Formats: sequence, C-alpha cells, structure tokens
Amino acid sequence: MREFQSVDGEMMIGGVKASDIAKRYGTPVYVTDEERLRSNFRRIDIAFNERMPTRIHYALKANNNLSILKILQKEGAHIDAVSIGEVDLCLRAGFAPEKILYTGTSVSTTELKGLVKRKVPINIDSISEMRRLAEVAPEGYPISIRVNPDVGAGHHSHVVTGAKTTKFGVPKGAIINAYSEALSLGFKPFGIHCHIGAGVQDVEPFLHVTDVMIDMVNEIRDVLGLHLEVLDLGGGIGIPYVPGENEMDVWALAEAIESRVRDATDVQTLALEPGRYIVCDSTVLLTTVNDIKETPEKRFVGVDAGFNTLIRPAFYGSYHHVAVANKFDHPADLVYDVVGPICESGDFLAKERKLPRVAEGDLIVVYDTGAYGFSMSSNYNARGKPAEVLVNEGETYLIREAETVDDLIAHQKIPSRLMI
Ligand code: LLP
Repeated sequence: MREFQSVDGEMMIGGVKASDIAKRYGTPVYVTDEERLRSNFRRIDIAFNERMPTRIHYALKANNNLSILKILQKEGAHIDAVSIGEVDLCLRAGFAPEKILYTGTSVSTTELKGLVKRKVPINIDSISEMRRLAEVAPEGYPISIRVNPDVGAGHHSHVVTGAKTTKFGVPKGAIINAYSEALSLGFKPFGIHCHIGAGVQDVEPFLHVTDVMIDMVNEIRDVLGLHLEVLDLGGGIGIPYVPGENEMDVWALAEAIESRVRDATDVQTLALEPGRYIVCDSTVLLTTVNDIKETPEKRFVGVDAGFNTLIRPAFYGSYHHVAVANKFDHPADLVYDVVGPICESGDFLAKERKLPRVAEGDLIVVYDTGAYGFSMSSNYNARGKPAEVLVNEGETYLIREAETVDDLIAHQKIPSRLMI
C-alpha cells in the first residue's frame, strides 16, 4: 500500500494538505496525484518495453476523467475501450483511433457501425458479432479475436472473466474456425486477446494464460498460415489494498512473459490492458465526518460518502484502507465502522478498523480509489456525484465539478398535463 507524507499531523497529497483540499473544494472529493499516475504508467511501460515492443492499453472503465485521459495520452498510452461512449471520450482527449482497441460484449450492430465510422479496431467477442460486423465494415477491417482461455482469476467471482463458464470471448476449442471464418469474411486479423479477470495479485495465472495463448497463436499459424502480430494478454494486474500486502513485481512479470513469447512464437508485439495498476493508488477519496454514534455493539463514524460515491466495499466486500487525514500521526487505538449517508445497512466504506478517536468535522481519507471509484458512482438517494481534483507540484486543479440537483434533473421531462 502506498505511503503518504505527514506534516504536523496532516496528511499531504502531492505537496498539498488534504484538509486544505477539502476546505477549498468541499467533500466528498476524489483527489488524484498526477505524479503518481504518471509514474505508475511509466513503471509498467518501461518494464515491458525494455524487453519487447508492448502496447499499454489503459482500461478507462477504471477511471474516464478527461484530464486523466489527457495525461495518459501524453504519456503515450493506448486504450482499452468497452463502449462507444468510452471511445468518444478518448477521441475527445486526443487519442488517435488506431491507438484504441474496442473490446465489447453483447455489442449491437448500431455500435459496430459507429466504431467503423470512427475507424477503431475491434476485438471480437463472438462469432455473431463478427458476422454482423462483416455486413457493415469495409474489406480488410482490422480486428482481433477475444478468446475464452479457460484460465480465470480475480479478487471476486463477479470479475473473473477467463473461466470457461463466463459469457466472454470465443471458446478456446472454436478459435481455429473463428479465424478461418474471419479470413473468409475479408477481415485482416492483426491479433489475439484474452483477459483472465481483475485484481489478480499473483504472477502465476498470467504465466499460465501466456502459455495457453502461445499454443493458440502457433496453432493458428500452423493450421491457417496466419501470423498474428499482436498478443494481447488483457488487464487485471492487482494492487496491494491492505497494509503489508506485496506489490506485483512488474519487472519479474515482464521478464517471465516476454521470454516465453519471444522463445516460442513469432509475435512481434505484446499488449496489456491495465486499468487498476495505472490509476488506483494515484487517487484518494476525502470524506468529512458528519456523525459519531456509539452503541453497545459498535462504534460508527458517519461520513458524507456512501456507496453512491464508492461502491466497491458494499458490492464486492472490498477492503479500502482508511485513516484520519487531520490526525495522520495519532495512534489508531479505537475500532470503528465507517458508514455513509445512504439508507441501507450495506452502506459502509470500512468495517472494524482501528482509527484515532474520531470527532465530528474530522476528515477521513479512503485509499486506492482511483480505479472503479468515481466510474462506478451513482446518484442513488438523489445525491450528486462528487468533485474530482488533480494535484500537481503543490497546485490543485478542479477536473470535475460536484453535481447539483440541476444535474440530477437535467434530462427529466414532466408531461404538461401534470404541470397544471
Ligand atoms: N481488459 C478487459 C477486457 C477488461 O474487462 C478489464 C476489466 C480490464 C482490461 C482492466 O482490468 P484491471 O487492470 O483494471 O483490473 N469493477 C471491478 C473491476 C471490473 C473490471 C472489469 N474488466 C472492481 O471494482 O474491482
């Protein structure tokens, strides 16, 4: 887990006091440290590209703020996009269409037409999708095919995508027929893709799936004479959310994957699709303590962020580390549940955590919220989504305003007969 500096008992983020950010922009607020974002991207980019050309496709489902996309575009990232909306955000952030790979599931023909219009390469999820694409795409359109490799892993069953019982990809056993049909439909397949799942902490499942994919690439070459240029191993690299957990060694991962691929195939380029690894620990959520409640059973800290702001604890039971930003060096000796303002008992950010004695008005910091934090937030209970702030070299920048009730009703219409 990432360490933050403390100055006079105050948590610092990118050279700025957390409590100053909260005072200036209000809470709840997501705060992203630009330097950390850039260094996460560079670490994985360099580890792989030192050994073999590797496209790092940032998976923007993790966080699609335009400023974050701009930063990663300037760093030279490629993109993994899952919807036409994500594609359009990336085009607006300045990514060239050929830097984007669209990997959808249950894709409509209308969406396929939109992708073709934008000239974005498509990673096919099913034979049905490929046949429908052939009807709307020009000859030689660039595609790859997503294989279901029958290798799955991930932090929760909801996010394991590579197991053979999931809805994703073309089954391993049907892959030769899929490429053969792609060629006869006039496509130009440039690659092959898989994604085992998300939040994978061990190197082993990545190596296992690499071996499976290598066999497939070679079989495609031997049977069809098709030399695929790109092997895309998807995303899913986990990060340590819990204090004391180890970070994934991306140098060791790069070395192990690339030596296997180089020795056994004529693939020229690797691709990876990290979302969480790049953005997760660049961002914290700051939330103010509204209420303290002590019952015979529990001690509760009621804060102004609930599962409308950060759903991962409620949805997956995920651990996010919490601390008191304005008492950063105080000893943590009382056990609390940190809960939100939503009217459901499942509305919690952290359970049974040791914190210093908390008072109304204190500022709680929730760690590692850059991935699937804001992007999975909602307007439940008619609460606006929070602001997002970027910190760089001691300066803060508002990169998304907090929503107001006007935003909540912006697209609603009332039939005129109800207005009388
Ligand atoms: N590529 C594909 C095809 C994916 O489906 C995903 C994530 C990624 C890349 C990026 O995975 P990452 O490197 O970020 O783990 N909402 C969940 C995570 C769902 C991930 C879905 N697919 C969470 O909060 O943990």
